[in-house]
Amino acid sequence: MSSRTVIRGGLVITASDEIHADVLIEDGRIAALAASGTPAAEAFTGERTIDATGKYVIPGGVDAHTHMELPFGGTFASDTFETGTRAAAWGGTTTIVDFAVQSVGHSLREGLDAWHAKAEGNCAIDYGFHMIVSDVNQETLKEMDLLVEEGVTSFKQFMAYPGVFYSDDGQILRAMQRSAENGGLIMMHAENGIAIDVLVEQALARGETDPRYHGEVRKALLEAEATHRAIKLAQVAGAPLYVVHVSAMEAVAELARARDEGLPVFAETCPQYLFLSTDNLAEPDFEGSKYVCSTPLRPREHQAKLWQGLRTNDLQVVSTDHCPFCFVGQKELGRGDFSKIPNGLPGVENRMDLLHQAVVDGHISRRRWIEIACATPARMFGMYPKKGTIAPGADADVVIYDPNAEQVMSVETHHMNVDYSAYEGKRITGRVETVLSRGELVITEREYTGHAGHGVYTPRSTCQYLN
Ligand code: URP
Ligand code: ZN
Ligand code: ZN
Ligand code: ZN
Repeated sequence: MSSRTVIRGGLVITASDEIHADVLIEDGRIAALAASGTPAAEAFTGERTIDATGKYVIPGGVDAHTHMELPFGGTFASDTFETGTRAAAWGGTTTIVDFAVQSVGHSLREGLDAWHAKAEGNCAIDYGFHMIVSDVNQETLKEMDLLVEEGVTSFKQFMAYPGVFYSDDGQILRAMQRSAENGGLIMMHAENGIAIDVLVEQALARGETDPRYHGEVRKALLEAEATHRAIKLAQVAGAPLYVVHVSAMEAVAELARARDEGLPVFAETCPQYLFLSTDNLAEPDFEGSKYVCSTPLRPREHQAKLWQGLRTNDLQVVSTDHCPFCFVGQKELGRGDFSKIPNGLPGVENRMDLLHQAVVDGHISRRRWIEIACATPARMFGMYPKKGTIAPGADADVVIYDPNAEQVMSVETHHMNVDYSAYEGKRITGRVETVLSRGELVITEREYTGHAGHGVYTPRSTCQYLN
């Protein structure tokens, strides 16, 4: 039996168009669009009609960088796949790509199987996986080919965190050479972790233990240097490159230069770098620990360059790097030693709203909002047009967004499993009202109507942003 829903009267916004259109959904997919008020639209019928008059009708958000249940610093990120994907849905995100982790001494397969087991049957929205490669060897390189074939087409490597996730330049080059052959995309955590560890040791020896020193030792220049090195290694390998969580304006300059040379170099930034700064890291009474993540928050003047990069397409994507740790009992592990504060910020629920606020504030256009938050992440990671747009044949992952609603972000009202909000008290114009995932109502007029297990694993093709 077919099930049909009609969404009437909204402004449909995609990365390329804004049209007043009615949307027909049939069996979990977009079946048709027609200009509102025309006979073609009037002919749409369904068991359910959603009135979107005065609202935006946008593709569900695609968050290409989350860490549910990530083991880090002796603890685990506090959102499970169940709580984290529910919170994502509340915030208008209908697809996440999370990072499965290969532990040193183990295979990629073991890591991927473990992440499938955590996610399966628990997600409210659809999900895919990238693979963190911590141990590059002949076996791992062969496994990368197999993973690409089965839909895990992107691999994260770390120039930071020696002794944990770190790869040296030779390991990075080998993985890049492999991805040049098999179509995979290397995602780089670009910070010079060896140099940073020296600065950490020296800072602690001077008694500089507060959270703000996390920002001081993880220098912008060391992000820029690693970004430059990653670009050159990718160029030598003949491979494309995607740099994750860019925060330093000096790193944006490296990316812009590479792109001006015509290199296939791409990058994301995250809302925390666009809206927060070292002022937050310096908050007294250890409150700064709430803002410890890597790359770190930067002084405010970096923000303008990040916005500019998003407008000029030197930065293509905004992902959250959602990696929440509670203040009580988790961030507190680093009292007296900033290097022991688990790295990461909550944000999967906040991204679509913060970026809508950026539209209101004049940083980006409405279509660019959808491009950086929905369409490009879907294309970058091989899910387009199934995800990231509203077009016939696409999955009916749709958000009804009220652009005039006012809200205040707060731990009191958010749904992430974490005891603080990084944006406590921030006023936002705009709010998610209703969310559909493959045609099913997950959020219905600000009520959760979804269920764990609705979300399914989404295998991905190789990067579609290259062509
Ligand atoms: O601080 C962060 N970003 N934590 C998550 C791990 C990573 O490097 O993305
Ligand atoms: Zn990282
Ligand atoms: Zn991350
Ligand atoms: Zn369902």
